[in-house]
Amino acid sequence: MTDSKRLAVVGAGAVGGSVVELAADYGHSVVAFADSSSAVVDDDGIDTGTALDRKASEGHVGDGDPQDALAADYDVLVEATPTTLGDAHPGFSHLRTALERDRHVVLANKGPVAERYADVRDLERDSQGRVRFEATVGGAIPIVSTVEDLSPSHVTAARGVLNGTANFILSRMAAEGIDYEHVLAEAQDLGVAEADPTFDVEGTDAALKCVILANVLSEGEREFTLEDAEVEGITNVPGSALELAAEDGRTIRLVGEATRDGIRVGPRLVPQNAALAVTGTRNIVQLETDHAGQLNLSGRGAGGPETASAVLGDVGRLE
Ligand code: HSE
Repeated sequence: MTDSKRLAVVGAGAVGGSVVELAADYGHSVVAFADSSSAVVDDDGIDTGTALDRKASEGHVGDGDPQDALAADYDVLVEATPTTLGDAHPGFSHLRTALERDRHVVLANKGPVAERYADVRDLERDSQGRVRFEATVGGAIPIVSTVEDLSPSHVTAARGVLNGTANFILSRMAAEGIDYEHVLAEAQDLGVAEADPTFDVEGTDAALKCVILANVLSEGEREFTLEDAEVEGITNVPGSALELAAEDGRTIRLVGEATRDGIRVGPRLVPQNAALAVTGTRNIVQLETDHAGQLNLSGRGAGGPETASAVLGDVGRLE
């Protein structure tokens, strides 16, 4: 049984909302919840149903200032604002505020660990708080914690299908023989696409996940950012390429690979019966290890409750 934690959840999209909804199931309380324009704070635990209903009906979670959530008396800050590139703000500044107050941080936002990994680790060293980020890679699939369990130095590469939106689109294109623009809206309706779906179809989201994995594998020996990644998305894959591949028993998947030497993401031909040929929004990661061979981890790589389960798993790992 894990200790009950007091959570401040920043970000009220599919993931933040699901964390708030599911926190009690995992034995935790939510003392603060913020979106970009408002917040609700209560040291005795907010009324999560009311906050979520207000978000759905009025577009904001409460009447307070978003900064109130960062100043609340919480144990763990759950950072679930949209991923941003470059300086990774506001996610990075939220993380810094929490660590400077010696509070833990659990990230669903990829920006801080993809773009400023060394800065995150520096801040963490000076804090009593810890940073965990399982939800940033592969949604519900416990990839980061599996690499930690194996010991990063014994994992030589991580390869896989890491973007549910692109995979859904490629699967639908193969089934229907149509081009990607026609199925992007369907993917957005599923609630798995990023706030900016070009992140998904241009390979950026998969690359960010590979950057995070490369940072984990490197254990601080080398810092990776998106600039170190060779990235090609699926926007130039025509439906006819999938038809041709199928004639040969193959299909096309957006495959990312992370090693301690670099990151590559692009459309690859894979046999239709290969482990990498997952369908729909599923993800798969293959970990290559020096003594344990290959491990395949597959499951739901996106979605509110799925990603919230990874966030709440991380909360449970904190002391
Ligand atoms: N947009 C992402 C995907 C969500 O489609 O996989 C999870 O990062």
